[in-house]
Amino acid sequence: MAKSGTINSVLFVCLGNICRSPTAEGVFATKAKQAGLNLRIDSAGTAGYHVGAAPDKRSQDVARASGYDLSKLKCRRVTESDFESFDLIIPMDRENERNLHKICPDEYKHKIYLMMKFANSEYDEVPDPYYSGKRGFELVLTLIEQASDGLIARIAKMT
Ligand code: 4NP
Repeated sequence: MAKSGTINSVLFVCLGNICRSPTAEGVFATKAKQAGLNLRIDSAGTAGYHVGAAPDKRSQDVARASGYDLSKLKCRRVTESDFESFDLIIPMDRENERNLHKICPDEYKHKIYLMMKFANSEYDEVPDPYYSGKRGFELVLTLIEQASDGLIARIAKMT
């Protein structure tokens, strides 16, 4: 990861920016605040199907049940300026990691880290819940909470 003291901003990325990455944004923002970290936190999608929409109701419901409010988030697509502007860019799965690598200028590729690298889990990706039932959305939240805790511990150690 980047050198000590250089993480001021984090961007979470999935395909649609309506399920996994807004959940990561909401969970990580809550946990970062609790840890006393002042970071710029955002999320975006590699696809543009839902631009302008609020997070999927299923993601909002599962998050709300654990105390995270996603209702004010709005879907947007990853832009080229994100690679320069964020210190860490965190895709939820390998497909989105590959797609980010395709559009990221070489000088910023070192900022891209898979979300589950920060968790101690048998899962190495946060699976797409879009066509799954409630269990899939609950799994997404659990994995994101685990990885967010790991990421916060890593950033807190640097500051
Ligand atoms: P996300 O989930 O990438 O976690 O936001 C999806 C949202 C929408 C679609 C696929 C995945 N979609 O095909 O519209």
